[in-house]
Amino acid sequence: MTLVKPIIIPHIQKERDMNYLGFEKTTVRKTVKNLNHLLANYHIYYQNLRNFHWNVQGENFFDLHDKFENLYNDARLKIDEIAERILTLRHKPMSTLSDYLTYARIKEVKETLPDREMVLTLLENHKVLIEDFRKVLASAAESGDEGTVDMIGSFLENIEKSSWMLDAWASKHAVFDHVW
Ligand SMILES: [Fe+2]
Repeated sequence: MTLVKPIIIPHIQKERDMNYLGFEKTTVRKTVKNLNHLLANYHIYYQNLRNFHWNVQGENFFDLHDKFENLYNDARLKIDEIAERILTLRHKPMSTLSDYLTYARIKEVKETLPDREMVLTLLENHKVLIEDFRKVLASAAESGDEGTVDMIGSFLENIEKSSWMLDAWASKHAVFDHVW
């Protein structure tokens, strides 16, 4: 009996391993998974912001009501960008509320919090998003996916700045190092 050796045609094998943008499919899958988890967390964060926008009370109402609206409008745009980046990478974005609740690490806030607790909760939510951003950045950099790195890098910088502002609002005695 003669064994028939498979014929490997290099360019066809390469096409199977690479997607239409020229990325290796296996490393793209890692980035997409990270992006989908980020998407799930972003939706819960978004809904927490709507909750806080509607339910904030007290002497800081006017400031916080507006601030939360600005943040949820910003989150809405970023959610769309993240989902469309996943589609650009030729994958399916997580699209149902039940999946978001299953996969998100950020918890939905069910009770009505005092205003300062709302701000502290958002700072905690930001920490989770920042962790997710960094995971996406690491896997995207691994596959040379500069488009994702660029997009998520700017989102990271934006949310770090928002965290500084929320922290400045919540802290009475912030300590800064003098280094020069
Ligand atoms: Fe409103």
